[in-house]
Amino acid sequence: MRARRRGGAIAALAIALGGCATSASEPRAEEPAIASVWRARCGACHAPVQPGERSVTALRAAAKRHDKRVHLAAAEWDALIAWLGK
Ligand code: HEC
Repeated sequence: MRARRRGGAIAALAIALGGCATSASEPRAEEPAIASVWRARCGACHAPVQPGERSVTALRAAAKRHDKRVHLAAAEWDALIAWLGK
């Protein structure tokens, strides 16, 4: 009886810890890889532009003005704009 109960508690703990490890090591499901670049780079000078806040056209124009401010590869800008644009 006692042993059984302890076993159950350990199993529950293992499940809880497993769940934690998964959510901490993986990016949120709805976010693409480029989101980590956005987090790291786009909030340095102003509040980061949120996904869906600006049109793709507005983002492309802003990206051009950011050429000297933020050094990202063209492919990174493409992925970023595709994700952020509405
Ligand atoms: C080195 C500073 C700096 C960093 C880093 C920076 N920005 Fe900016 N951003 C500015 C400045 C200054 C402006 C205002 C002038 C302008 O619009 O070009 C601006 C304006 C913008 C605008 C236009 C805002 C509007 O109201 O339409 C967008 C969109 C934008 N930034 C996106 C980004 C994104 C995406 C990133 C990350 C890749 C980023 N910024 C990182 C300095 C920065």
